[in-house]
Amino acid sequence: MSVLITNIKQLLQVHDHNVLILKGEAMKTLSVLENAYLYIEHDTIIEYGEMQYCEGIEAETIVDATGRIVLPSWCDSHTHIVYAGNRTSEFVDRINGLTYTEIAERGGGILNSAKLLQETSEEDLYDQSIQRLEELIRMGTCAFEIKTGYGLTVDAELKMLRVIKRIKQESLAKITPTLLAAHAIPEDYRDRKDAYIKLITEELIPKAAKLHISRYIDVFCEEGYFDIEDTEAILKAAAKYKMRPKIHVNQFNILGGVALGAKYNALSVDHLEELSDDDVKALKNTDTIPVALPGCSYFLSIPYTPARQLIDAGLPLAIATDYNPGSAPSGNMNFIVGAACVKLKLTPEEAINAATINGAYAMGISNMYGSITRGKKANVIITKPMNHYSEIPYAFAHNPVEQVVINGQLKDIKNPEEDFRI
Ligand code: NIG
Ligand code: FE
Repeated sequence: MSVLITNIKQLLQVHDHNVLILKGEAMKTLSVLENAYLYIEHDTIIEYGEMQYCEGIEAETIVDATGRIVLPSWCDSHTHIVYAGNRTSEFVDRINGLTYTEIAERGGGILNSAKLLQETSEEDLYDQSIQRLEELIRMGTCAFEIKTGYGLTVDAELKMLRVIKRIKQESLAKITPTLLAAHAIPEDYRDRKDAYIKLITEELIPKAAKLHISRYIDVFCEEGYFDIEDTEAILKAAAKYKMRPKIHVNQFNILGGVALGAKYNALSVDHLEELSDDDVKALKNTDTIPVALPGCSYFLSIPYTPARQLIDAGLPLAIATDYNPGSAPSGNMNFIVGAACVKLKLTPEEAINAATINGAYAMGISNMYGSITRGKKANVIITKPMNHYSEIPYAFAHNPVEQVVINGQLKDIKNPEEDFRI
């Protein structure tokens, strides 16, 4: 199987050498090849270059991309795509004046989603989740991190892990599973949080580790959820099984989760709507990438991550959707790239870097995803006609995607029957 894309107006994120991450100043540059071709065999990027060097290359499928941009597919490094039902009634409650925290205190929020998930069969949960995923592939995302966290019992968490594993096995998308072991304190543990932490560290983590599905551990480190001590106990327990942290920190309050993440060599620290100078300092000279989630800030009307402060301090930044039923019920990365420009004050170059190569880094997959590099997996977006890549974030909430190549396969995203499974 081979695909040749010709006459590409701008081929983005082209790197001869395999970059794994872009930090600070380096995020300002997006490497672009004008009037280019891209040649794919099976699931791999084989060659690219200027059109004048395309002569003689033959392929089973040829796509004429005249007037179109081609770029690596979006890499969404923070999602909770596996969930049951939705929380539209809470959405209306918030419009009418309740806050996210007030809803959670009344037993809504994550507890509400957990109840729904526990009542939903594994098959139904898979069906709901894969539908969401396939809608997003059509919008240009081909690599997803997916978290557990709506189980809140050992059994339901393991059910979530199995659903994520099945998606990973059956979808053409690249899936990175994360065990969000500590997302909220269940009702029956309300006055005995320590017993719940014990259940997580002594039962859930060992059982989950045995399944070998997730290499990452997550905790919602936040007031009213899990404090620094709880978070550290969970990260310690997970470290025994070589699970690396990717944690929720600083969404509403600064508890010291950023420094703790850095101490435990977190792959990423996510949210950071609140940020201190000490947090920025703690991230310097580490392998931990900060991840901003502007969709969550938009939906909850909370502050946006001070992304400029992070990038201007020389740090890397990834952007992701946080797709979940409570704080960000959209997985559209095109919107996230636009919001990153408008609300986080990233340039289009920085935003595209944050959503491709740095998103891949935040999932530990940037050696094979996130850039146009020979030998990397062939996951690309072919846009609708446009003059310049800046039109992607400029036309916010539009879908700039015309076609996608996923795992080397060209897909007709307008065809409702199109199949994105292996
Ligand atoms: O990343 N903050 C914690 N978890 C999710 C929200 C979960 C929910 O409300 O269902 C988040 O925003
Ligand atoms: Fe989240």
